[in-house]
Amino acid sequence: METEEAIRSRRSVHEYTSEEVDDDTLKSIFELVRWSPSSYNLQPWEFLVVRDEEGKETLKDCAYGQEHVTDAGAVVVVFGDRDRGAHAEEVFRNEAEKGYRDPDTVDDMIQKFQDEGWQGNDEWAMQSSMIAATTLMYAAWSEGVASCPMGGWDGDAIREEFDVPESWKPVLMVTLGYVDRDGDEWNRERKYRRSTDEFVHLDGL
Ligand SMILES: Cc1cc2nc3c(=O)[nH]c(=O)nc-3n(C[C@H](O)[C@H](O)[C@H](O)COP(=O)(O)O)c2cc1C
Repeated sequence: METEEAIRSRRSVHEYTSEEVDDDTLKSIFELVRWSPSSYNLQPWEFLVVRDEEGKETLKDCAYGQEHVTDAGAVVVVFGDRDRGAHAEEVFRNEAEKGYRDPDTVDDMIQKFQDEGWQGNDEWAMQSSMIAATTLMYAAWSEGVASCPMGGWDGDAIREEFDVPESWKPVLMVTLGYVDRDGDEWNRERKYRRSTDEFVHLDGL
């Protein structure tokens, strides 16, 4: 699917068929997600993929009972890891080998990121992981898998139910599944969009 077509045709889907999202499809989707940009290339994203009925029921409870969570073939919880040091070593060493960084400063840089800890890095973790979540939606759609991004859930409940590491901040839930093309939702006109004239402030506000 071409990029433009993917962007224009993606929509949030709540009505799915019962078809499963299999391992190979997920693998292809996440292989594309890997190439998302991130701050310092530190890739602070983590994805919990839930496909079993019990897990989806638990997530539905965390999402205030939203029905499409259990109707979807898979539900992904996207986390941003606030620990800026988590992957600093492998990322910065690799970049030095490839000529992106001065090898003489790499040790200090790794130390700095590892010493920094993670308290208060919510925004930092959210920025990169939300971009990865967006890639996830378009990568899925390019594989024929529809999605719905969701912000309506209780992060503390997710933490408790799934034993989430302390430094991981839940940032988005994304349902994945195959569209019910005969359903009412798919056959409705696309939702309203603001015009570009309204939101693009060309050359100043
Ligand atoms: C940050 C964010 C949070 C959202 N939360 C929910 C949600 O909790 N439940 C839901 O059904 N849809 C949710 N949506 C989907 C929006 O309702 C949807 O993107 C919007 O209505 C536009 O429709 P479209 O995606 O079909 O174009 C969310 C979307 C975003 C980007």
